[in-house]
Amino acid sequence: MVSLKYSFLVLGISLLFSCTGENESASATPNGKLLFEKNCAICHGKDGKLGQGGAKDLSITSLSKDDMVRIVEYGKPGMTPFKGLLNDGEIQAVVEYIEELKEK
Ligand code: HEC
Repeated sequence: MVSLKYSFLVLGISLLFSCTGENESASATPNGKLLFEKNCAICHGKDGKLGQGGAKDLSITSLSKDDMVRIVEYGKPGMTPFKGLLNDGEIQAVVEYIEELKEK
């Protein structure tokens, strides 16, 4: 009887793990901070202020989110176009992160 109870427990735990695993991948929001540090910080710096190669200080930009999404998609002179490199969700996440940089 004890071993039966134990196997139910094991089953329960493994079900729990498989469920959370699925949920995570289904609802995973791209991490804007990580994406920014990986793709943008080389020129803009982690805090958005580096200005490498004429890059704009993102912490003081007055652009709307829509404009930033467009710039990130199509690039600028001196800036890589990210359409095709990042998907729509990732570009949104990165722009959300610029909003956070602005508040600092
Ligand atoms: C190769 C260097 C480089 C990389 C990488 C880069 N940028 Fe830029 N970025 C620039 C330069 C240079 C400008 C200024 C272009 C201009 O306006 O003439 C700029 C401008 C911008 C602007 C406009 C700011 C304003 O106020 O006009 C935004 C928004 C921006 N970058 C976001 C990003 C994001 C988000 C990423 C990463 C996904 C990124 N950039 C990656 C070089 C870069």
